[in-house]
Amino acid sequence: MPPRIAHPSIATVTLNPALDLTIPLPRLARGEVNRVGAAELRPAGKGVNVSVMLGVLGEASLATGLLGAADIPAFAEFLDGQGVAADFVPVPGRCRINVKLVETEADGGAVTDINPPGAATPEGALEAVAAKLAYGPAIVVLSGSLPPGLAPGALAWLAERLRGFGARVVLDSSGPAFEAALAAKPALIKPNRDELSALLGRALPDRAALLAAAREMQEQGIGSVVVSAGGEGALFALPEAALWVTPPRVRLTTTVGAGDAMVAGLTAALARGLPPEAMARLATGCAAAAVSRPVGGSPALAEITRLAEAAHVERL
Ligand SMILES: Nc1ncnc2c1ncn2[C@@H]1O[C@H](COP(=O)(O)OP(=O)(O)OP(=O)(O)O)[C@@H](O)[C@H]1O
Ligand SMILES: [Mg+2]
Repeated sequence: MPPRIAHPSIATVTLNPALDLTIPLPRLARGEVNRVGAAELRPAGKGVNVSVMLGVLGEASLATGLLGAADIPAFAEFLDGQGVAADFVPVPGRCRINVKLVETEADGGAVTDINPPGAATPEGALEAVAAKLAYGPAIVVLSGSLPPGLAPGALAWLAERLRGFGARVVLDSSGPAFEAALAAKPALIKPNRDELSALLGRALPDRAALLAAAREMQEQGIGSVVVSAGGEGALFALPEAALWVTPPRVRLTTTVGAGDAMVAGLTAALARGLPPEAMARLATGCAAAAVSRPVGGSPALAEITRLAEAAHVERL
C-alpha cells in the first residue's frame, strides 16, 4: 500500500460519482424475472476508479470532487482501504447508482449501462473543489460526466484554474464538457474512438484516420492524445512517438472501467516520466488487467506487469 500523505502529487476529480452495481448474468431476459449470481456494489465514478487503480500501481492519490453527503463515509472507508486519500465536497442528497448488466453469454460480453443523472449541484460547489486542489498537485485527472446543475464549461473552468496552480491536466470526458475543456490545453486526453469521432464530427474508420485526428488535436496544443479502441488496443500519439499497442488476449470479466484503468496507467507513467513505449505498455497492461480482473476485486500488480510485457507495440 502506498504511503499515506496528506497532499499527494496526483489528484483525481470526479464531479458525478456513483455506486456501481455490476450484475453479471448469462443473458438478459427483458420483461422477465432474471435470477442472477453475485452482484457487486462499489464506490465508483471515473476519477474514483482511476485513483483505485493508481493505488494498485503504488501511486498515492487524492480523490476529490462532489459527493452526496450521506455517501461520504462509505467512499472514504472504501478508498482508505485502497490507499487513496478521499476529500470530497459534500452536496445534498445521495450519489446515483449506475447499473451495469454484464451479459456473459452475449457476443463479446455485452454491457448495458443504466446511468441516472446524479444529484443537483449547489451554488459554489465547483469553486470548493478547486479550493481542495489549491495545494498544488503535479497532475490532476479530470474524468467523467457532469452532474445536473453544472454548465458544460465546468471542466474547462477547472482545467484553467489547475493550469494556474501549475498542474498538468489529464482529461477523460465526453460531449460538450470535453470539447470545452480542450481550450485549456490538457497535457493528455484519452477519448475512445467514438468520443473523438463525435468531437470531430466525422468517422474514424482506421488507424490512419485516428492518427490524423490525434495529430490535429496535438497541433491545437494538447501534449498527448491517446485514443482507445476497445479490444483492438489504442493509439498513443505522444510528443516523441506515435505507437499502436494491441493488448494480449485475456479472459474477459467485464469491460467496465477499461478506459479508467488505462487513464491510471497513463497518469502513473506521466508521474514517473516514462518513455513512450513504457508508458503505452503500462497503460495497456492496466486496461487489459482491468477487463480480466477477478469479479468484485482489483487486478494484481504482477498481472498488470505481465500483460504490459505481453502487449504488442507497433511504431506508426
Ligand atoms: N476485450 C478486451 N481485451 C483486452 N483489452 C481490452 C479489451 N477491451 C478494452 N481493452 C483495453 O482497454 C482499453 C480501453 O478500452 P476502451 O476503448 O473500451 O475504453 P473506454 O471506451 O474509454 O472505456 P470506459 O467505458 O471505461 O470509459 C483498450 O485500449 C484496451 O487496451
Ligand atoms: Mg472512457
